[in-house]
Amino acid sequence: MSHLTVTDHRTGAQIEVPITDGTIRATDLKQLKTAPDDFGLMTYDPAFLNTSSCRSSITFIDGDKGILRYRGYPIEELAENCTFLEVAYLLLHGELPAEEQLAVWVNLVKRHTMLHETTKKFLEGFRYDAHPMGMLISTIAALSTVYPESRDIKDPENRSKQIARLVAKMPTITAYCYRHHFGLPYIYPDNDLSFTENFMNMMWKMLEPKYVANPILARALDILFILHADHEQNCSTNTMRAVGSSQADPYVSVAAAAAALSGPLHGGANEEVLKMLDEIGSIESVPAYVKKVKDGHGKLMGFGHRVYKNYDPRAKIIKWTADQVFTVTGTNKKIEIAKELERIALEDEYFVKRKLYPNVDFYSGIIYEAMGFRPELFTVLFAIPRVVGWLAQWQELINDPEQKIARPRQIYTGYAERHVVPMGKRALASKG
Ligand code: CMC
Repeated sequence: MSHLTVTDHRTGAQIEVPITDGTIRATDLKQLKTAPDDFGLMTYDPAFLNTSSCRSSITFIDGDKGILRYRGYPIEELAENCTFLEVAYLLLHGELPAEEQLAVWVNLVKRHTMLHETTKKFLEGFRYDAHPMGMLISTIAALSTVYPESRDIKDPENRSKQIARLVAKMPTITAYCYRHHFGLPYIYPDNDLSFTENFMNMMWKMLEPKYVANPILARALDILFILHADHEQNCSTNTMRAVGSSQADPYVSVAAAAAALSGPLHGGANEEVLKMLDEIGSIESVPAYVKKVKDGHGKLMGFGHRVYKNYDPRAKIIKWTADQVFTVTGTNKKIEIAKELERIALEDEYFVKRKLYPNVDFYSGIIYEAMGFRPELFTVLFAIPRVVGWLAQWQELINDPEQKIARPRQIYTGYAERHVVPMGKRALASKG
């Protein structure tokens, strides 16, 4: 086994720290102390730039080479050959399902697509203009009260049931959030339809006797769901694991993960991309916008990634999917602006030097809008498939004997001990 020899120049002590899988254990450094009552040497890594928080066999990313694999399968092959529910099974169980296993899984998901009527009423309590992400997060958390048995997270059978429920109910909640906004009657799930067709039916069915989803659009949505299903230890997955590590039930843990997803630097970026394209307004205004970003005013939303420093393999597949969608919906001005923005940014030294490439969110929003989704719904559309990744990672966490409640350390920078001054003698506080 390789090791690292560390000399502590504060004391002259030398230790050997084993290197496994290209990693040292931060707790091995605790042996280095300046006094017997010293806690020991810690590592400092805000935003986890260089810290592994778990061992995982779910998703592999090589950011420099632009590789993404679920359970060993390249994302490109999965997007080309599989359905979202097949990929969901793969992420959750570790292997692609055989025909019979898939039939059982699809049937299980279909059995759980309905929402309890009280959940419908809960949704109705929101104002008509409530942001759908807020509605989604709260509704998922509220499901914890509908399924109190979900707290028994140690029982694998119970966990599987809650997982199927969550995967199945996400599209239903999303469609209900949308229809609530417009005051449209809710459409109950139709289990004759595929996962994405059923979702489109719940979203858009009006008075026609049978809503028929366009097969190109339904497949495009399925591919987008595959691309978004997992992405190893991103901000929301890390949240799922952190909350799950306290043995909270899966509904409140998923609600917390969804809250993390909603931020504009994470899943909220797809909505921000659309706002940015609106702000730019025309192809002619693209160079001025890029200059503004380079001058430090804002970011190019949908560009850059913590891990991918070459290209985002999902963005490539999305571009292909976008072309398919546009054959049905036609193209629009925003797509042209997006293409010009990408062209200029990819040639510009500022972006090239910082290795900033379009990420998955750059084109997903444009596709969603072309399909007829409102921008406020884009992050919810990200959450529908990502729930699979969160739950796969949650299962892995629960089965990992090395995991404990997540509890980082800190470097305390506040006051040393001081004493309360009586009210009449206190000076005005100078900081909040
Ligand atoms: N536009 C302009 N400059 C950027 C951008 C951008 N989108 N992203 C990073 N930079 C600059 C940043 O200012 C910094 O410059 P300098 O070295 O001069 O200070 C440099 O590039 C490195 O950036 P960073 O902030 O250290 O990178 P990070 O790994 O901490 O952040 C990121 C990654 C995705 C949060 C960031 O690139 C970003 O904010 N992008 C825009 C939001 C976005 O599209 N998010 C979706 C991410 S992909 C899907 C998902 O995770 O949900």
